[in-house]
Amino acid sequence: MYKAIIRPLLFSFQPETSHHLALKSMRFFMRIPGVRALIKSIFKHESPINLMGLTFPNRVGLAAGFDKNAEYYQELGALGFGFVEIGTVTPKAQPGNPQPRLFRLPADGGLINRMGFNNDGLDAVVNRLKNRPSGLIVGGNIGKNKITPNEDAVSDYLKGVDALYPYVDYFTVNVSSPNTPGLRELQEKAPLTNLLKQVRDRVNELGGNRPVLLKIAPDMGEGQLDDIADIVLELQLDGVIATNTTISREGLKTPNVDAMGAGGLSGAPVKVASTEVVRYLAKRANKKFVIIASGGIFTAEDAQEKIAAGADLVQVYTGFIYEGPSMIKQIARGLS
Ligand SMILES: Cc1cc2nc3c(=O)[nH]c(=O)nc-3n(C[C@H](O)[C@H](O)[C@H](O)COP(=O)(O)O)c2cc1C
Repeated sequence: MYKAIIRPLLFSFQPETSHHLALKSMRFFMRIPGVRALIKSIFKHESPINLMGLTFPNRVGLAAGFDKNAEYYQELGALGFGFVEIGTVTPKAQPGNPQPRLFRLPADGGLINRMGFNNDGLDAVVNRLKNRPSGLIVGGNIGKNKITPNEDAVSDYLKGVDALYPYVDYFTVNVSSPNTPGLRELQEKAPLTNLLKQVRDRVNELGGNRPVLLKIAPDMGEGQLDDIADIVLELQLDGVIATNTTISREGLKTPNVDAMGAGGLSGAPVKVASTEVVRYLAKRANKKFVIIASGGIFTAEDAQEKIAAGADLVQVYTGFIYEGPSMIKQIARGLS
């Protein structure tokens, strides 16, 4: 039904409009008494797995950026996700880049986005996470405001930790979005070590029982991946999310891609590069930290490839747009 009816309807709108339309309609229907429970019973697949001190109901999560403002995580949970990562949240609300900033590449099964961390800021997000029902794992993906210079970036991430600590189950430190100028420079060894050490210390001061993960870009050489593995091991971080979107435009079938401008490319075109990062890190990790694979997962086979490369969990975004909610259960089942 999704591919035959809902997707053509949604794809007839601008991508950002259809995103909001889909989520608002989903919430409207799920507020009808009994509907959410019914949907949950249809889409649910339980194959629990214990990792980082958390019990994930299944291995399939929703990647960051889809529910940036923690508005829809309960409805998304009802669609069968084992975990939902909200954010990226920055301390202050910010509008992001001018529209249009999200483009579909159907011929490639991809998306290009330069959203630029548009979000409502920590206060609004915290309010939406208060009193959240138990049973769904929610991760908090934190970043820095565009106007914060990299020298002060640590303080933005610590604000994220302080505000979200009581309300999320794990943290993701996002230094890999290509759409905030200079952000990826924080992936270099010295600033990354400093940032992650301070985040880890702050989490420990607050009680310590929130896993901390680092989300990285797919556009890194082996030397940089070695540095990352060393830092994660040395600071005893809980895991890595591999990967964010790519700045590469290689091998695309879509004509005039350059006209879409800058941004991160996601979906099928990033799959192989992301899997290679997972494979490389998994060898270095030797099971000492968790790897969550994100990048180009559309089917159970795609997800199995990530697990075979060494991932423990997977997250989807672009595949969910193209395949619809039924993919979640199919993948969860395929991995159990
Ligand atoms: C429109 C859009 C917005 C995104 N926003 C964020 C974000 O705010 N923070 C983040 O860490 N990743 C963000 N991502 C990256 C995704 O979480 C995911 O890591 C990436 O798209 C690769 O997975 P996929 O191929 O399944 O989409 C975004 C992706 C898209 C397509």
